[in-house]
Amino acid sequence: MGLTDDPVRAAADATAARRLPGKVTLVGAGPGAADLLTLRAARALQQAEVVLYDHLVSRDVLDLVPADAELVYVGKASGSHSLPQAQIIELMLQRARSGRPLVRLKGGDPYVFGRGGEEAQALARAGVPFEVVPGVSAAQGAAACAGIPLTHRDHAGAVVFATGHLREDGRGGSDVELDWGALARPHQTAVIYMGLATLPRTCEQLVAHGMSPDTPAAVVERATCADQRTITGTLRTLPQQVKSQGVRSPALVMVGTVVSLHGELAPPAAATRCGHGPEAG
Ligand SMILES: C[S@@+](CC[C@H](N)C(=O)[O-])C[C@H]1O[C@@H](n2cnc3c(N)ncnc32)[C@H](O)[C@@H]1O
Repeated sequence: MGLTDDPVRAAADATAARRLPGKVTLVGAGPGAADLLTLRAARALQQAEVVLYDHLVSRDVLDLVPADAELVYVGKASGSHSLPQAQIIELMLQRARSGRPLVRLKGGDPYVFGRGGEEAQALARAGVPFEVVPGVSAAQGAAACAGIPLTHRDHAGAVVFATGHLREDGRGGSDVELDWGALARPHQTAVIYMGLATLPRTCEQLVAHGMSPDTPAAVVERATCADQRTITGTLRTLPQQVKSQGVRSPALVMVGTVVSLHGELAPPAAATRCGHGPEAG
C-alpha cells in the first residue's frame, strides 16, 4: 500500500505540512458514571474549549464540559458509523490547528479497543503535542459492579481482553481474528468486548478448543450504569439466555470460573448504581 492509499496517514501528512499549534488530550471517559473519571480527566474536560466525543460517552461526563465549549459528536454506534475514522482524525487535526485546548473524549480507556492508538499515531505524525489520560475500562467497571473479579488466586492468574468484532477476512467472508487456543486456557479470565453478535460462535469455539461447556460465563450489559444487567450461565447456556433476555450493546462477555463469584460478590441492587442513568439524581 502506497502512502497516499492510507487515509489516516494522508490526513496526518497533510496536516504536518502546516505546522500545528495547540495540544490534544485523549481522555478516557470511563464506562459511564462521571464519578469514575480520574481527577486528571475531569480537569482536562473543565479546561477544554473543543471536545470531540464518542457514542458511549455518558451525559453525566459531558456535563463537566464548560457550557461555552464546542461539543462535537463523532460517535460510532455498532453498525452505523457517523464519521469514518479517517475523517474523525482529520477533524481532530483541523480543530487542533486552532490552538484551542482540545479534548478527544473516548469511552472507557482510550487505549483499549478505542482506536486511541491510531489517533495518537496520527497526532504524533502530524507533530501535534498530545497527552493520554487513562480511563476505567469497561472490563474493570463490569468486574467491580457485577462482582466478578478479573483475577483471583483460586480462579484466574491471568486476564485476556479480546474483541468479538467481526472483521473482513479478505476472502469475501468474515471471521473473528481470535486465538481461540489462547483464550481457552485454564485459570484465566477472558473478557470479550463487542462480543454480543458473535457470542454463539465464541462459546462454540471455546468448547472446541478444550473448555468445558459448563464453564461459567456472563454478559454484563451497561456496566456501572443504573440499569446494569448481569446474566450468568455457562458456555452451553449463555447464548440462548442472552437472546431470550434481549441483551443489547454495550455489553461485555466474561468467561472463566471467576464468574461463579458473582452470587457472593454482586453488590446489592442499590449499590450497583455506581453510574448514571434514570435513577441518577
Ligand atoms: C469500541 S469498544 C470501547 C471500549 C472502551 N475503550 C473501554 O475501554 O471500555 C466498545 C465496547 O466496549 C464495551 N463497553 C463499553 N462500555 C460498556 C459498558 N458500560 N458496559 C458493558 N460493556 C461496555 C462493549 O463491549 C462495547 O461494545
